[in-house]
Amino acid sequence: MNAPNGLQVVRSCVEAHTAVRSAQRQGLRVGLVPTMGALHEGHLSLVRRSRSDCGFTAVSIFVNPTQFAPHEDLAAYPRTLEQDLAKLRRLGVDLVFAPASGEMYPPGSTTFVDPPQVAATLEGERRPEHFRGVATIVLKLFQVLPADIAYFGHKDYQQTLVIRHMVQDLLAPIEIEVCPTVREADGLALSSRNVYLSAAERQRALAISRSLRHAQQSFIAGMRSAAELKHQMRSILEAAGLPEIDYLAVVDAHTLQEVAQAQEGVVVLIAARVGATRLIDNTVLRQQP
Ligand code: PAF
Repeated sequence: MNAPNGLQVVRSCVEAHTAVRSAQRQGLRVGLVPTMGALHEGHLSLVRRSRSDCGFTAVSIFVNPTQFAPHEDLAAYPRTLEQDLAKLRRLGVDLVFAPASGEMYPPGSTTFVDPPQVAATLEGERRPEHFRGVATIVLKLFQVLPADIAYFGHKDYQQTLVIRHMVQDLLAPIEIEVCPTVREADGLALSSRNVYLSAAERQRALAISRSLRHAQQSFIAGMRSAAELKHQMRSILEAAGLPEIDYLAVVDAHTLQEVAQAQEGVVVLIAARVGATRLIDNTVLRQQP
């Protein structure tokens, strides 16, 4: 499939691989933005970053079934390919790889990546197969689209660590760049799942970013007790009608192990349910944000 203005949309691994290799043979640095589609400004910020760093930008759009548990939202996950392509075309993306499921998981495929240690906690504890699916599909995408650099968002902080470790441990020849979380003006972190929220739920969801900002301000004001930070954040969430907190953790930025005392660079992570929608967000505590 070839779009008139130069965006090439391909469905097969062979075509995708050929397009990336041919750009590299022309001396272009290739940037890859892996996505599951339903693109929002967060994804588009990664695309813009790739466009400014690289001579050729590829975006993958694939709702990866293996990172969803059977009870999760695979079937309902928003699929908006035409709108996504229009957005990417406007940004001047060179290649979109939008494979069918059978292309990424050929019949009979049984090989998976065993994810690194950092996958065991937080999301990994609540969604036991999730990072196995993420690591597997990301490695497959790196094989199919052998880019020089790949871009991921900080909102999925644990995912970025899983990918960095996987790349290092499995010697994948690609650089990883993590870009800042993009937020609405009122603080809500952009997520493809925000479309599930009713107006009232969206209002309640603001307590997530509000509690993270509160942690940041308390840290600047000198609070160091992780237990106290979490207590105050939990009060903010509960007062806003978000009692279903999957986790609220203050962790070391590299190991994701809980710390008792907050210090510069520790990460505060939240996963909470707003109605039927599970949202995650995080912030890195800094004396000078
Ligand atoms: O962050 C996502 O959208 C997905 O987990 C990813 C990295 C595209 C893998 O399916």
